[in-house]
Amino acid sequence: MAYEFDGKRYRDASSHQKRWGGRIISELPLRGDERILDLGCGDGALTAELAERVPDGSVLGIDASEGMIRVAEKNALPNLRFQLLDINALASLGEEFDLVFSNATLHWVKDHATLLQNVHNLLSDGGCARFNFAGEGNCSNLLKVLRRAMSLERFTVYFSDFEWPWHMPAVGQYELLVAWSAFQDYRVWPENADHFFSDADEMIAWIEQPSLVPFLASVPQRDKLAFRNFVVEQMLLQTRQTNGRHFETSRRINVLAFK
Ligand SMILES: C[S@@+](CC[C@H](N)C(=O)[O-])C[C@H]1O[C@@H](n2cnc3c(N)ncnc32)[C@H](O)[C@@H]1O
Repeated sequence: MAYEFDGKRYRDASSHQKRWGGRIISELPLRGDERILDLGCGDGALTAELAERVPDGSVLGIDASEGMIRVAEKNALPNLRFQLLDINALASLGEEFDLVFSNATLHWVKDHATLLQNVHNLLSDGGCARFNFAGEGNCSNLLKVLRRAMSLERFTVYFSDFEWPWHMPAVGQYELLVAWSAFQDYRVWPENADHFFSDADEMIAWIEQPSLVPFLASVPQRDKLAFRNFVVEQMLLQTRQTNGRHFETSRRINVLAFK
């Protein structure tokens, strides 16, 4: 299941995603002529950074949200393309890549056995996958508050057939999955990226775009604001620090796997 996001608001609310992704990109040992695929490129800022690292190569960013792709396409570079495509339909991509990169996205994908197989099929011999996504323990405050909001009498009726949007496995569980995949040479490791938002506004922007989107999609217009306000108010209360900043857990899974 894929959702529709506001690319501009995401661009303005994603400084911490950009920080993690930017660090990973800066550490990639690139020659400069690689063909790269970015899964869940969002607003395309990191995809453009990848394109700058491979002036003699090419980069394709895919995302299932039109709102994200529209904003991503504003990053114009001669070796950079974007395509509206669901990661679950990767098998339809008839191209070969030397690197498949993904930042802050793959916890939105449920079937990772198929994902790993599809990525392996798309890679050239010796090519590699480099992922960073949310694992067990991520956003522990937000998940608690969302579950509470969904169980309130006023809102619970809207969630009777709701599909939980995220898959955040334990690192050991994911390592087993990679061990069972076609990748032979791989490393899977955890990262504690717990985060202090500088103020309430920064945290609210992150809650609204992208985290709240799948939940609000299930709530009718007349109750959307009340649901949003409940989540925001509870989050501010639960996470406020004495210095005015707001804390949230951020537990990541890193994957480096070679074909
Ligand atoms: C948190 S954003 C990350 C964007 C970008 N990689 C970054 O680090 O800033 C997650 C992105 O994954 C995309 N996404 C989620 N599920 C998807 C799917 N099944 N197929 C393609 N894109 C998906 C969303 O539309 C969104 O743009």
